[in-house]
Amino acid sequence: MPVLRPILLILVIFLEESKSARILGIAGIPSYSHQLFYRPIWLELAKRGHHLTLLTTDPIEDVPNNIRQIDLHFSYQIRHVKHNITMKMQEYNLDYIKVWNSYGRMLEDIVENELNHPEVVTLINNETEKFDLLIMEYIPQVLSAFSVRFNCPYISIFSAEIGNFYHQALGNALHPVLYPETFLPQQINLNFQDRLISTFYHFYFFLDQIFYETFKEDRLVKRHFGDGYPPINKIIRNVSLVFVNSHPVFNVKPLGPGFVRIGGGLHMKKKQELPQVNEIKEFLDSASEGAIYFSLGTNVRRNHISEGFLKIAADVFKELPYKIIWKLDMDITEKSSNIKIFRWLPQQDVLRHKNVKLFITQCGAQSLEESILAEVPLLAIPYVSDQKMNARKISDRGLGIEIDKDTMTKEILKRSILEVIKNDSYRERVRETANLLLDEPMSSLEKAIWWTEYVIRHKGARHFWHPNIDLPLYQYLLLDVMGFVLIISVVSIYSLYKTLKFVTRLLCKWRKAKTEKQKNS
Ligand SMILES: *[C@@H]1O[C@H](CO)[C@@H](O)[C@H](O)[C@H]1NC(C)=O
Ligand SMILES: *[C@@H]1O[C@H](CO)[C@@H](O)[C@H](O)[C@H]1NC(C)=O
Ligand SMILES: *[C@@H]1O[C@H](CO)[C@@H](O)[C@H](O)[C@H]1NC(C)=O
Ligand SMILES: *[C@@H]1O[C@H](CO)[C@@H](O)[C@H](O)[C@H]1NC(C)=O
Repeated sequence: MPVLRPILLILVIFLEESKSARILGIAGIPSYSHQLFYRPIWLELAKRGHHLTLLTTDPIEDVPNNIRQIDLHFSYQIRHVKHNITMKMQEYNLDYIKVWNSYGRMLEDIVENELNHPEVVTLINNETEKFDLLIMEYIPQVLSAFSVRFNCPYISIFSAEIGNFYHQALGNALHPVLYPETFLPQQINLNFQDRLISTFYHFYFFLDQIFYETFKEDRLVKRHFGDGYPPINKIIRNVSLVFVNSHPVFNVKPLGPGFVRIGGGLHMKKKQELPQVNEIKEFLDSASEGAIYFSLGTNVRRNHISEGFLKIAADVFKELPYKIIWKLDMDITEKSSNIKIFRWLPQQDVLRHKNVKLFITQCGAQSLEESILAEVPLLAIPYVSDQKMNARKISDRGLGIEIDKDTMTKEILKRSILEVIKNDSYRERVRETANLLLDEPMSSLEKAIWWTEYVIRHKGARHFWHPNIDLPLYQYLLLDVMGFVLIISVVSIYSLYKTLKFVTRLLCKWRKAKTEKQKNS
């Protein structure tokens, strides 16, 4: 039975490695949607018998005994109160350098405090603690020092697209016109100005990483882990695998073999009945004309949304025949009877309700996937970071419409809502995309677990990476090659010029001599 043989082999491998490993998982960025993405992986690894120690900003409730959690929830305060980052990111809008710098300062502040947390300090100093694997959110990169501390391989993971500078750092060179930075809204069909901008940011962040970020991180390593650590650049490049939440339907970036795409609904839960609390179910069941689900995600809060925006939205909703199920962390004063506001909603199940016809969203990566898999078309109103790129993907692929929150008017909002709901082409495209997302040889979660245990089995996966990754910068940027070509060109042109000049002079002399000869004769 030749067909069965590979299957048996896989089974044997699975049984063989079922020895349990000790895994350190770190996800320190205070963002609930990130955490939701990693959770299924932690729980599944625990189910398979591994021991996990998690550093997390949102501890999971009711965990099994083989998961130990260190609660870093305090970092939300640093994000929202001290740094007010969502506000700043909106304010700086298209000034990506300012956005990135303020985000970087916030991350540094957060990681500094997290590494000073008493339980984390105890963990770092515990001489008897041992881990077989570290799984960490790819930023802040200083956390990769845990892999040196515990002398174990590591996997980096992220719930959204990862920055190009990280690809560059790992030798996965990307072309700035084909693959612009993820925060740039224009991802395809770049015009000359877009190409100029994309190239600028490409090199800016690449050089920023080399000449600034790494020095900062080296200092952090020294302060929190002690002396004798290799430079952070070397630690970053020592990664075994990078798990990325992307799917070829949305992203065709070339990825080396060390990258594993685990996008495509990894965080999706099983379908459940809507809870009876707060009449969510009754409200949606009674929406005979259909319902619109409106949420700007977990990071955009009431005080990030302008009064004008709220008024436009409430006015438009009043004129629609649909019920509006609105997730917002505060009530609004003037609202018509077809609007209902909830502080919390089971988003996946709301989207799967048969009466929901449209999702108005800020376009986070998870929301995008949830909507598509529930076959609900989208109206995108992006706020910050990768949301603009996601919104552009939606409009480029005909999955919905994108509108700009700053220039939005009543007419634009109403027209866009009606267009997406009434024109069937959007729902059709969403359905096709959902089928493509789900048609995979194994589910995203299975893939993530299989590759995690692969790293455990082989004590790393360095064979997936280029052995000469530590090229000096001048070689990576081809400065020597280009310099050589330049010198050769200059020398050749100069020689050619000199030769021509010499020949012309010779010709002139000859001619002069000839005419003189003729005159004389
Ligand atoms: C964030 O900034 C905005 C505007 O600058 C301000 O209204 C808001 O109160 C700030 N939030 C916090 C928590 O300081
Ligand atoms: C150090 O790690 C070991 C092994 O996990 C554990 O049993 C012990 O309780 C830890 N010590 C402290 C002080 O946390
Ligand atoms: C790379 O990781 C291995 C363990 O997988 C470790 O032994 C080695 O010291 C690490 N090197 C650096 C530079 O971090
Ligand atoms: C529906 O939308 C598609 C895509 O935007 C467009 O090509 C088509 O003309 C629209 N159909 C109608 C009837 O408006």
